[in-house]
Amino acid sequence: MTEIKISPSLLSADWLKIGLEADKIYDIGADMIHCDVIDGIFAPNITFGMPMISALKRCSKLPLDVHLMIVEPERYIDKFIAAGSDTIAFHPEASKDPHGVLASIRAAGIKAGIAINPNVAVEIAREFIDEIDYILLMGVFPGFGGQKFIPYVMDKISLAKELIGDKSIYIELDGGVTVDNITRMKELGLDVAVAGNAVLAADNPKEAVKLLKKQ
Ligand code: DX5
Ligand code: ZN
Repeated sequence: MTEIKISPSLLSADWLKIGLEADKIYDIGADMIHCDVIDGIFAPNITFGMPMISALKRCSKLPLDVHLMIVEPERYIDKFIAAGSDTIAFHPEASKDPHGVLASIRAAGIKAGIAINPNVAVEIAREFIDEIDYILLMGVFPGFGGQKFIPYVMDKISLAKELIGDKSIYIELDGGVTVDNITRMKELGLDVAVAGNAVLAADNPKEAVKLLKKQ
């Protein structure tokens, strides 16, 4: 079984030194930097936008795993691509033109994903199955790091796995990942775990990444 990838979320980072935090995420052996872009409308928080992605691009040695929790992402998708995103997932129900957004991401040669909230059926991915590189399953409702994993989302990993079949689409889970639930997630087919709190709020983030990968 290939090693699971870890994508720490900046939501749990020290924003006073975000550049150093990006270096730290590289140094602790993580695989990507999960950039939670939230507009205060799609989810009840406001984080950052394209300027932060461009700044991170200048310093990060890891791919930028961008998660758009914004309404009508089609308005900004070209700017997030130009800013240097390496993968972009968005919530299709927030878009008036989800297929167009996926086409823009793919045309730029970067990885396209759709994000599925806990209360949204995995089945919605069927419509996009030939246009995506990954499915981002939300383990919590969007907005904040440090929330508890919603147990019924575990079954959605198997459903996503079934839907994907032998297509080269990976499954990423975002929210509430800990050393206690990641083993089961891996058994069910998870490929990438977003881990904010479990890594960046840990006493020893490097150890935390090692533990998450080893489970
Ligand atoms: C919610 C965010 C969180 C975060 C992960 O909008 O997307 O899911 O990145 O945070 P933890 O790992 O702390 O639950
Ligand atoms: Zn996220």
